Amino acid sequence: MLEGKKILIVIGGGIAAFKSLDLIRRLRERGATVTPVLTSGAEHFVTPLSVAALSASKVYRDLFDLTDEAEMGHIELSRASDLILVAPATANIMARMAGGLADDLATTLLLATDTPVMIVPAMNVRMWTHPATQRNLTVLRGDGIGVVGPVDGAMACGEFGPGRMAEVADIVAAVDAHFSGGPLSGRHVLVTSGPTHEPIDPVRYIANRSSGAQGTAIAGALRDLGARVTFVTGPADVAPPPGVTVVAVQTARQMQAAVQAALPADAAVMAAAVADWRVENASDSKMKKDGSGAAPALTFAENPDILREVSDGPNRPGLVVGFAAETDDVVAHATAKRLRKGCDWIVANDVSPATGIMGGSENAVTLITADGAEEWPRLTKQETARRLAERIAKGLT
Ligand code: CTP
Repeated sequence: MLEGKKILIVIGGGIAAFKSLDLIRRLRERGATVTPVLTSGAEHFVTPLSVAALSASKVYRDLFDLTDEAEMGHIELSRASDLILVAPATANIMARMAGGLADDLATTLLLATDTPVMIVPAMNVRMWTHPATQRNLTVLRGDGIGVVGPVDGAMACGEFGPGRMAEVADIVAAVDAHFSGGPLSGRHVLVTSGPTHEPIDPVRYIANRSSGAQGTAIAGALRDLGARVTFVTGPADVAPPPGVTVVAVQTARQMQAAVQAALPADAAVMAAAVADWRVENASDSKMKKDGSGAAPALTFAENPDILREVSDGPNRPGLVVGFAAETDDVVAHATAKRLRKGCDWIVANDVSPATGIMGGSENAVTLITADGAEEWPRLTKQETARRLAERIAKGLT
């Protein structure tokens, strides 16, 4: 709960600003006092009147509003809260924060404050992935600013990808975790994610359809609960979450080395879709047709089973969670897999093409533990991740 907590919410000018109205309600329901600051851009998307009504507070808007200065100066306003939440944080406000500008009330408060700041980015996918925004993000993180989201999804502008503002429930959870220190604070969790690419020659490889979306969401959810996350990822379709240590790999053997290097950890979540085999006779130069019509004969070698190694290894984390992507007899296969791999839990799912799970935004999993199989409803990958992170937090206490 947020009883007695004072939150200053800076609402930036983006289409996602409408979500901030609900965010204000949810924070107040949990006992927080919310003081809103609207940027001039935000007023195009939400009205000061609706923000005032929902927050039951005066809405601060203009740096040079002398009435406000007489009542409460901007320095005082910036320090009177326990947390400053910038939601939505546009690319523009992130850039101004990263550059230390103070050219309106919001950025002046953010520069003058000595209280913790958390931003909730929301913008078009290209703006989010632009090197300038990513640079600013690194600067802000380095300044100790917390970041919630963004998440993948369809955007108001019609594009799809990372940049969408985190769901209100996730923002509230992150605020809760901030004040409680998070149930996983002080814990190190290792997450593997994405496919692996196994080279055939310098330009060709064998891969699988894993997008990395579920592993990425899990890493973000664990981070939101306060964990220090090492995220070992193959070449995924989605960008790694901010606020985690990213180790990018291509092949299963590189993933194996990165995982071993990341240990010890309190928990490991192995969500990667690791290729079972690599091409043993991969060529160092591009393979050419020889004109005879003969296809090249590839021979395969089995890749190391990273999950089993971690489960059986001397540095075994207290909780080892594996995944089982199956297309039939999901629970039976996953139950057998849990024993074969020596892990504590298996998150099993049906990845038959008809389910749309592989590469999609939802998941329907069954959690297999020593106590049996627990079927979870079909949820967004973000929500599945949040639940799993909470279970992991409970499992580690
Ligand atoms: N895994 C791994 N290393 C491998 C293969 C799989 O760490 N070389 C991990 C995956 O990250 C996942 C779990 O093992 O957590 C199960 O992966 P899956 O591909 O379903 O299992 P396999 O061992 O490949 O079993 P099978 O192909 O027989 O279903």
